[in-house]
Amino acid sequence: MPILSEATASAIQQGEVLFRPLERGDYYRGYFDLLAQLTVAPPTTEAVFAQFVESSASRGSLTLVAVLDDCIVASATLLVEPKLIRGGSSVAHIEDVVVDKRCGGRGLGQSMVERLCAEATKRGCYKVILDTSEETAGFYAKKCGFYKKEIQMRRDLVVPQGKLTESFVGQVTQKL
Ligand SMILES: CC(C)(COP(=O)(O)OP(=O)(O)OC[C@H]1O[C@@H](n2cnc3c(N)ncnc32)[C@H](O)[C@@H]1OP(=O)(O)O)[C@@H](O)C(=O)NCCC(=O)NCCS
Repeated sequence: MPILSEATASAIQQGEVLFRPLERGDYYRGYFDLLAQLTVAPPTTEAVFAQFVESSASRGSLTLVAVLDDCIVASATLLVEPKLIRGGSSVAHIEDVVVDKRCGGRGLGQSMVERLCAEATKRGCYKVILDTSEETAGFYAKKCGFYKKEIQMRRDLVVPQGKLTESFVGQVTQKL
């Protein structure tokens, strides 16, 4: 696995960073180490990771990554949700925004969010929404043009062992 040196990370400049969709080989480019800076993110198997990547487009999803020295240093995901209200327009969701802490404060987070908002506009979405913490809300307000609206409600579900992985890669089809 490529290792990002402190020196490279601290000297980062926007022009040196490649922005592109997540790809299968990123499994070996420190992707799960980056996600672990956001939340609990033990590595999946390589097969599950590959299926997540391959099925992204058909799920209306785009995971954008920033690459520096062959290491993934930022990631954010766009989900497009088609609606029947408002004449069948779509809503975009931004999820799991994370920038490697060694590369923070250099515009990467803002650039990732801007790129996903541009993509959402291209896909005909009329708004972009995201969940965040009180601590990070300031970043979205100050740097990304978001504002606080309504509240999030949550109910935790108990999922049988193994089912989480199966369902997120779309292997479980349930007839309603
Ligand atoms: C929040 C996060 C994405 C910002 O990424 P980043 O690349 O460091 O941010 P940028 O360099 O684009 O922007 C830096 C600016 O945002 C501001 N900023 C960063 N975090 C902030 C916060 N929590 N509250 C208010 N402002 C914040 C900085 O003060 C700086 O402002 P300035 O340009 O006026 O000096 C990054 O710190 C991160 O990944 N954090 C951990 C994971 C996380 O909390 N993700 C969000 C979950 S939804």
